[in-house]
Amino acid sequence: MKTHRLALIPGDGIGVDVTDAAMAVVEAAARNHGFSVQATRFDWSCAHFVQTGAMMPEGGIETLRGFDAIYLGAVGWPDTVPDAVSLHGLLLPIRKAFNQYANIRPHRLLPGVEGPLKSSGFDILCIRENTEGEYSGAGGRVHQGMSNEVAVETAIFTRAGVERILRFAFDQARVRRGHVTSVTKSNAQKYSMVFWDEVTREVAADYPDVTMQLMHIDAMAAKMVMAPETLDVVVASNLFGDILTDLGAAIQGGLGFAASANICPDGTGPSMFEPVHGSAPDIAGRGIANPIAAIWSAAMMLDHLGETTASKAVMAAIEAVTAKGIGTAPGRHSTDQITTAILTALEKPA
Ligand code: NAI
Ligand code: MG
Repeated sequence: MKTHRLALIPGDGIGVDVTDAAMAVVEAAARNHGFSVQATRFDWSCAHFVQTGAMMPEGGIETLRGFDAIYLGAVGWPDTVPDAVSLHGLLLPIRKAFNQYANIRPHRLLPGVEGPLKSSGFDILCIRENTEGEYSGAGGRVHQGMSNEVAVETAIFTRAGVERILRFAFDQARVRRGHVTSVTKSNAQKYSMVFWDEVTREVAADYPDVTMQLMHIDAMAAKMVMAPETLDVVVASNLFGDILTDLGAAIQGGLGFAASANICPDGTGPSMFEPVHGSAPDIAGRGIANPIAAIWSAAMMLDHLGETTASKAVMAAIEAVTAKGIGTAPGRHSTDQITTAILTALEKPA
């Protein structure tokens, strides 16, 4: 029997609840589909920072390297650790160290979920560049706190980095509906974004079977609201992808439904799977976090691990449950109720 070794980082707040929910579903799927999972939990979090002064221990990255996949709940507890410290201490180093350059986020309405838009027929796959661009961390501050203070943050775009994410997007379009929209702001940002557009045209030439459209981020924001059904694969830089996927989460019914995968496409390191949402301190500890985004992310993990049938079964179970109105309205069902319903649907497919 095949065993998948998973590193679990539940993190803070509702990250812990939704990780437990996702793992219960993964274990049930494993039992049903003839594979096993061996999960190791790491309590790396803001609580860990308060105790030790670091988000993860020294050598943490090397510890993770040996796993087949990483599953992360959510990290952040701004009352005790500034968000810039927690983000740069755990999540961003993992994404960079393992070359998880493709951040994939699906946006579509599950059956029974009412989004804020008239349109329900959209199915968008957002691909966000995940290791460089505006989140490179290159910059500095001088004369801190003085009236002549200067802050500089430089976005870094490399040909290798831009080309590989575009190729990833075009490859995804080939197995979907064959259309890529590449998002920049090349009218205003005349170096990095004009460069991105140029590389997009070069890569597109290798994919004559895929149609391509260049679009500016502002127009794209409007299009995702006005005509989301016209979009298939959307590819964007780190910052633009971050913002657009919160918009995507909003039109699919909220952060409780938004799943994500940080993929290392060349397989040199483990990939990481996590819901888009954060630790939600406002509802933490109340047992009402929606686990669907986390369970959908776990389904993406199963697919990545080659357990395609199990992945499809989990998605079908999620859809069977939302179709009955379970988990579709904020707070109506508890985390446990939604998880139990999905586990039940997994055992007895419709
Ligand atoms: P958030 O995603 O935690 O919460 C935003 C709003 O959505 C809150 O009102 C929350 O209650 C609600 N919400 C989020 N997920 C939900 C779920 N599954 N079910 C029901 N309601 C849900 O974002 P926020 O408040 O900006 O950040 C809180 C903390 O999380 C911060 O420390 C932030 O840095 C961190 N964060 C971590 C992320 C990660 O680990 N990948 C991503 C985003 C934020
Ligand atoms: Mg975000």
